[in-house]
Amino acid sequence: TEDARELLLSRIKDVADYPKPGVMFKDITPLLADPEAFSALTDALVELAGRYGATKIVGLEARGFILAAPVAVQAGIGFVPVRKAGKLPGATLAQSYELEYGTAEIEVHAEDLSAGDRVMVIDDVLATGGTAEASLSLIRRAGAEVAGVAVLMELSFLPGRAKLAPALGDAPLDALIVV
Ligand code: PRP
Ligand code: MG
Repeated sequence: TEDARELLLSRIKDVADYPKPGVMFKDITPLLADPEAFSALTDALVELAGRYGATKIVGLEARGFILAAPVAVQAGIGFVPVRKAGKLPGATLAQSYELEYGTAEIEVHAEDLSAGDRVMVIDDVLATGGTAEASLSLIRRAGAEVAGVAVLMELSFLPGRAKLAPALGDAPLDALIVV
């Protein structure tokens, strides 16, 4: 609802020049500290999980974990962490992607996703789209289907949505707030 959206937006703090000069950081910690706002966020994402017909929730380390875990519990489906490289002990699939400077790599336990799974990806922010795009590759390489991607915030001054479009195919990308 528009009320929920307003509540979420009011609990996101703009921090100028963080982590470096010229960058406006979107701090979600006030939202997490407010149980009414965190619940409204969780409820909105659970509703999307239902609409997607999701059978698994993937959260993207680190801030995506915080948002995704309560959604999985409330929706009654499994949570699968996509982690930064080197953190998972079992057999993993790995995917590297471009950063502004250099590259990064994320991993998932291959056995956590399988054919027949419809996977919802949750993260806090869609910026350039690199992280989300890499997660979609992991999901497909694990043999599962991408049910949709949901973020709290989409930064519309960056081309994340366009970058993600080919990897999304027919799957939806939902942003609760567009800034
Ligand atoms: C941030 C943010 C998203 C990602 C979006 O994560 O939480 O996951 O960047 O950027 P992109 O669309 O350009 O890929 P980051 O790894 O910086 O930090 P975190 O570990 O605190 O989530
Ligand atoms: Mg992140």
